[in-house]
Amino acid sequence: MDTPIIIKNLTKKFGDVVAVNNVSVTIDPGSFLTLLGPSGCGKTTLLRCISGLEDPDDGEIIIGDKLVYSRSKGISLPAGQRDLGLVFQNYALWPHMNVYKNITFALEIQKMTKEEMDIRVKESLKEVQMAGYEDRYPREMSGGQQQRIALARMLAYRPKVFLMDEPLSNLDARLRMDMRTELKRLHHISGATTAYVTHDQIEAMTMSTKIAVMKLGVIQQMDTPDMVYHYPANLFVADFIGNPKVNLMPGWVTGQNLVDVGKFNIPVKTFNQTGEVVVGLRPEDIMISTEPVDGAVEFSAYSVLPSGADTTIIARKGDTELTIKEMGVSKIQMDQPVWLSFTEDAINLYDKETEDLITA
Ligand SMILES: Nc1ncnc2c1ncn2[C@@H]1O[C@H](COP(=O)(O)OP(=O)(O)OP(=O)(O)O)[C@@H](O)[C@H]1O
Ligand SMILES: [Mg+2]
Repeated sequence: MDTPIIIKNLTKKFGDVVAVNNVSVTIDPGSFLTLLGPSGCGKTTLLRCISGLEDPDDGEIIIGDKLVYSRSKGISLPAGQRDLGLVFQNYALWPHMNVYKNITFALEIQKMTKEEMDIRVKESLKEVQMAGYEDRYPREMSGGQQQRIALARMLAYRPKVFLMDEPLSNLDARLRMDMRTELKRLHHISGATTAYVTHDQIEAMTMSTKIAVMKLGVIQQMDTPDMVYHYPANLFVADFIGNPKVNLMPGWVTGQNLVDVGKFNIPVKTFNQTGEVVVGLRPEDIMISTEPVDGAVEFSAYSVLPSGADTTIIARKGDTELTIKEMGVSKIQMDQPVWLSFTEDAINLYDKETEDLITA
């Protein structure tokens, strides 16, 4: 489908709080954009502005070829005229309607026949693993089940645009994984342009074509999950994305492609940068050995945390602490000396002052 969402200089304030601050974003047709960021950064507000549930203070929103909001032209279409499928935390099911009625309510307005509606209901309930729940009322279902019915309602409507605000938040870990799989499939099949809100970074990494990381109403970086993970644009993004967290070490450039981080040097591409910097490296990009290795730095294993598929090791050298991730079950014992090696290519360098990524 060919429905882009174009947002230009959008601002929404609540009193003194600027919830969305001059945001400009284009969501490409058929793409899956996830808004990710800490609580209160403006994710829900931005999504509600797109949907028409919130009236912005300034800017412009275009959905497909429809100008749905423009401050300067005095246009603001109500939610119902924007042809969207919504699943919002606070956009609940109708309590006085059963599941069948909740799902078909919007379809009746489209003048769909009973036979068609029956098929849509059946299909969409199956997709969210709720087949057979047609006659239940919202009060007769758990929070997670209600959430899945809300998803089914969106799917049955088959809109060109999906807007979802934490639609999996009430589900347990297992079901959440299943629903991620299904939602990704459904997006793949339907090609609906999707804007998705979560503060679960696994959800963002696994489902999105692009991620927009937000802080205080401003988008810090918008790129593919791969780029956001491997080349975070600034220290905030680097620190927010990744579990276990990225290692950030303050240091200063001491020579061509070398950074002094206090007790040892680290090889980094320095791109003519001088002075104070911050080195960022992911736990899985540090090699750990129980034997001395050429060029490696000796640390002590402070804590070893196996989780089955992998092991997180916290290593210390004086007051420098690094987190390392090893695949599988590690043989390293606590308090054992370990040797850490670093690969230049996996390390990012940040300007201490601006906190921005330094690139060629
Ligand atoms: N109706 C409102 N009245 C006043 N302030 C509001 C209102 N809605 C949101 N805010 C404020 O706007 C900011 C952004 O809120 P928003 O709900 O968009 O955050 P969020 O990123 O969705 O957070 P969370 O992850 O907790 O859902 C917050 O500071 C919030 O307190
Ligand atoms: Mg929210």
